[in-house]
Amino acid sequence: MLKKETVNVNLSSCSRLLHPMHTVLVSCAGKTAKPNIITLAWAMPTSIDPPLVAVSIRPERHSYALIEETEEFVVNIPTIDILKETLFCGRKSGSKHDKFKKTGLTPLPARKVKPPIIKECVAHLECRLHRKFKTGDHTIFIGEVTEAYADKEAFSEGEYNLRKAKMIFHVGGNEFATLRIRKFKPKL
Ligand SMILES: Cc1cc2nc3c(=O)[nH]c(=O)nc-3n(C[C@H](O)[C@H](O)[C@H](O)COP(=O)(O)O)c2cc1C
Repeated sequence: MLKKETVNVNLSSCSRLLHPMHTVLVSCAGKTAKPNIITLAWAMPTSIDPPLVAVSIRPERHSYALIEETEEFVVNIPTIDILKETLFCGRKSGSKHDKFKKTGLTPLPARKVKPPIIKECVAHLECRLHRKFKTGDHTIFIGEVTEAYADKEAFSEGEYNLRKAKMIFHVGGNEFATLRIRKFKPKL
């Protein structure tokens, strides 16, 4: 019997085996509270029709209460140009910091939802809460995408221009990666 050498991974950090994860900035706003930004590595599309995206958020986060309150959020796609700001939004809480002010990121009005989009990001998916459910110590918020748009130079003909849109991938801790552009198109 062939065996391979493995290393055991603590179950409390087994999610790291799924990283690097594409990292997003979710903007949200309460009814009265200031708009906020939360960095998330746990985000993914879950349906094409209707267009749905899921984000997984711990109840302790300030953003959690804001999304529950207005049932709207925007998934913004950051690039390596705003890596420091992305880390800041993932290490500091909106309960103590005005993250737009502190990072210098620019809020712009969204088309259909109350939370602003983040100008410095290359793409934006405006979402209305479709459904939410608790999964262990996080809650998955599923957003129905009501508007989706991207910077002209960053996205065309249905795909990103990866030279322009240098997206951020979370490796673990404070470590991030970006893509080295080598595209592959295997023939089947
Ligand atoms: C790269 C990175 C990825 C993160 N991913 C998530 C995530 O998927 N879900 C989550 O609840 N928190 C995640 N966090 C932690 C929150 O972003 C962090 O607790 C943030 O300060 C919460 O802000 P808030 O209190 O203003 O909502 C992540 C942090 C970093 C740095």
